[in-house]
Amino acid sequence: MKAKLKLVRDQFPILKQRVNGRKLVYLDNAATTQTPRAVLDAVREYKEFFNANPRRGAHYLGGQATILLERARRKVQHFLNAPSPEEIIFTRNATEALNLIAYSFGLSKIEAKDEIVLCISEHHSNLVPWQRIARLKGAALRYLYLNDDYTLNWEEVKNKITARTALVGIAHMSNVLGTIYPIKELVGFAHKQGAAVVVDGVQSVPHQPVDVQDLNADFFVFSGHKVFGPMGIGVLYGKRRFLEAMPPFLMGGEMVEYVQEQEAAFSELPYKFEAGTPNLEGAVGLEAALNFVEEVGWDFVQKQERQLLAYALETLQKIPYLSVYGPKCLKQQGPVLSFTIKDCHPHDVATIADAEGIALRSGHHCAQPLMNYLGVPATSRASFSFYNTKEEIRRLAASLSKVRKWLGYGS
Ligand code: ALA
Repeated sequence: MKAKLKLVRDQFPILKQRVNGRKLVYLDNAATTQTPRAVLDAVREYKEFFNANPRRGAHYLGGQATILLERARRKVQHFLNAPSPEEIIFTRNATEALNLIAYSFGLSKIEAKDEIVLCISEHHSNLVPWQRIARLKGAALRYLYLNDDYTLNWEEVKNKITARTALVGIAHMSNVLGTIYPIKELVGFAHKQGAAVVVDGVQSVPHQPVDVQDLNADFFVFSGHKVFGPMGIGVLYGKRRFLEAMPPFLMGGEMVEYVQEQEAAFSELPYKFEAGTPNLEGAVGLEAALNFVEEVGWDFVQKQERQLLAYALETLQKIPYLSVYGPKCLKQQGPVLSFTIKDCHPHDVATIADAEGIALRSGHHCAQPLMNYLGVPATSRASFSFYNTKEEIRRLAASLSKVRKWLGYGS
């Protein structure tokens, strides 16, 4: 494990730098992950040798660019075990993918009598678009509240997901609590009620293998930069029968078969949903990132991240006045740990950690309804990746132990 960890860490040049005089400890992986050499090299190679607009030029480079785009799409398809490449749509990020679903599927299918059910821990990107659709269509928005240990409450599920529910939106893993929700079981229940299910997989995809056929969700989205790829590339997987029935979201070049003065006929899947020049360097980088994760291996990723989370839970909970918000159980929690320190503002906590070269996130984490539900304005959050080390957690714990004193409390 140790030797492999060193090999893996060496692939991330950014992790070698010093911040505020100390070796960088990067614990903001839920916001974005760092980029391995394989991805940096793939993007550079594309720009140096193959840059062209895909699916347009009849020239050599145009053809190469098209091959690269479709190769990346097939990589994503296999990574998610999606039935076909046509069900993989490239977007800018998960937020755009969720807006696509909301404005295309939501606007055309949801009606005034319908209900949209969201989990209370949703990120704003799987929440605000549905507020908009509910408002536009006169539908009701309902929330699934959680058990005391921040896991899914099945009573809530049974009470709220009913024959009136048109759509259920839920993250596979919460970006604040780290809770891993039982998506397969939830999808099974929602489908029995006739509801479609949209899963935000942004936080789960970097940490566990995902099989969209096994989960059976109707839509599943993620972002490239949270799984070691570039920013500006995201993925929407949708079941073919849904995508085929949905109108396009963005209109423009390359999503049309022909255009006349008054009307246009749209392209087949997946191009119907990919208007404009795609982010090909993003797609190339994403393909390299997914290959990289597979080379590192899920076995290593999961073992390492579980050990880190277990160690962080054990160490941080020993710090007086520190409260953790999450299941605190390795089976139901991914490597995300949100906490508060009594009487200390989370921004102060993150600033004090930063002074020692430790990158945490603090704030509402784009989940304000969850913060209200938890009864806190904000939390601090440490989120781990397989390249983090126990030593880094020791440094985090040492820094957090000093916070209250730094802020003028006796202990
Ligand atoms: N959604 C990202 C996070 O949780 C930005 O930090």
